Amino acid sequence: MCGIVGYVGKDKCVSKIIHGLEALEYRGYDSAGIAIFNKGKVDTFKEQGRIENLKKRIDLEAESHLGIGHTRWATHGEANKINAHPHTQGKFTIVHNGIIENYIELKQDLLKNGYVFLSETDTEVMAALLDFVYKEEKDVLKTIQKSCKMIRGSFALGILFHDNEDTLYATRLSSPLIVASGEEGNFIASDVPAILEFTNKYYLLDDLDIAVLKNESVTIYNQYNEVLKKELLTFEGNMEAGQKQGFEHFMLKEIHEQDNVFYETIHSYFDGSIDSLKQNFPDLSNFKKIDIVACGSAYHTGLVAKSLIEEYAVMPVNVEVASEYRYKQSFYDNNTLVILVSQSGETADTLAALRKAKTDGITTLAIVNVVGSSIAREADHVIYIKAGIEIAVATTKAYLAQLAIFSLLTIYFAYQRKLLKDEQINKIYEDIKKMPNLIRQIVDNQEYFMIGDKVFQHQNIFFIGRDIDYALSMEGSLKLKEISYINSVAYQAGELKHGTISLIEEDTPVIALSTKDELREKTISNIKEVKARGAKVIYVTTEMPKEKFYDEIILIPRVHPILQSILVIIPLQLISYKVAKNKDCDIDKPRNLAKSVTVE
Ligand code: AGP
Repeated sequence: MCGIVGYVGKDKCVSKIIHGLEALEYRGYDSAGIAIFNKGKVDTFKEQGRIENLKKRIDLEAESHLGIGHTRWATHGEANKINAHPHTQGKFTIVHNGIIENYIELKQDLLKNGYVFLSETDTEVMAALLDFVYKEEKDVLKTIQKSCKMIRGSFALGILFHDNEDTLYATRLSSPLIVASGEEGNFIASDVPAILEFTNKYYLLDDLDIAVLKNESVTIYNQYNEVLKKELLTFEGNMEAGQKQGFEHFMLKEIHEQDNVFYETIHSYFDGSIDSLKQNFPDLSNFKKIDIVACGSAYHTGLVAKSLIEEYAVMPVNVEVASEYRYKQSFYDNNTLVILVSQSGETADTLAALRKAKTDGITTLAIVNVVGSSIAREADHVIYIKAGIEIAVATTKAYLAQLAIFSLLTIYFAYQRKLLKDEQINKIYEDIKKMPNLIRQIVDNQEYFMIGDKVFQHQNIFFIGRDIDYALSMEGSLKLKEISYINSVAYQAGELKHGTISLIEEDTPVIALSTKDELREKTISNIKEVKARGAKVIYVTTEMPKEKFYDEIILIPRVHPILQSILVIIPLQLISYKVAKNKDCDIDKPRNLAKSVTVE
């Protein structure tokens, strides 16, 4: 996924665009570039690597009032300067987020028409297509409309037309793009953090809408050239979300926000009474089975939810990664609820899975963080988590908030199926009220950091658990992998001896989770199996064992099992953070990653 920012207004544009790109750098950071109108012509600057590298090459005070900028997560072509955006062909300079799937065919036709390409990107093909179509249409709006209809794939585009040095054009299909109006002028951006410094008022573009921004005006057309009256939205968050506020990394700040995030998320929907859930959640009483579809950490929340909903609501739950689900034979029917989980609400595979279910007439529910995101808007129902803007690529607070929503959904489904009574719900609510303090206690527990010091030099670290503890192991392992680059694997504790245990050597760290009472004895047997082969065991549990079969123990305060996973994940986040810090990794922007993968 990439970050797009554009500005037109009475102020100088370069520093505003760069500021916006820095706020979006979590979306991709392979290269960055900017194109500005300067004395009647378009000047383009681009550099490989971080925005810092670009800043060294540009004049932040350049006398220009209109420009576009881009920070890239490479999809087509290496992460180098040539392939960095913006790209220019003829009279068009553009920045792009998305994938043009038919760019090869288009490129061949354009080559036959004399176009020459410098980069390997699909974006440069789009710029040439605009230029080619314009030669025939002689009208920029029609050119954009006609060109976009020739595209298969996804795009958010910021467009400069060289003959109109007072106008910024923008359009989108599947990739997110907002248009914002502030005192200083008008903006386009891939996401709200880019413009929060200047305004919190913005318009959401729908697919194939075209925005025409000038110094004093914003006009939005639909694909039929009709002027649209769009609702001007106000972002609830604030600029602080985009700052570290004294923390060394956004990830650590966001871990520390989890007590409040839990509180806000739960209390937005649940006051301890089932009536509050009935009031705030859609009626889900008809559904007999559930498909949970997501990617990465969001998928891992689905695994936790499966364990809880199947145990307490006795409903079959099928959990799949979206990139598989979207292409495979489906077995859903009108009794199936498809739940899409996504922090960004823009993950391409999850969005595609949503669209597949909707095409098949299946009811969809989205659990999303970003308000107004594509998945949130296209699902039949949406439940927003209240995590606020999450900047760190490795999710923590959004993952925890998703777990909180699944805890509420478990209560909701179980109650509707008469498997949970009011007094049981009251007991759970008593624990819910303790959770923010318990989260705070765990987040502040420095001992967990110390454990990170004891494992960070290892190249292989295992996580094991059974049932819900396996689901949590999956997330703990991903957190470690994605920010510390240590090879880690999560394994069902009972499965280890069927092969993988051969990898256990002297001192291999094994983080073993055991929070499910009924399975504890079995898990302890598995722990002893790895211990017998030299493993260094870090035991994460809610019950102090009588014997010391472990090297380190993390004792988690016991709460109702429907809530327990929310506490268990926190030490795993902290250990991963400390390991990555000790290894001097780029914790907020790990190599090769981006915050939301809006391409397949
Ligand atoms: C999590 O730490 C990763 N950054 C990644 O797995 C992420 O959860 C996944 O890409 C899904 O993103 P989404 O929640 O925005 O759909």
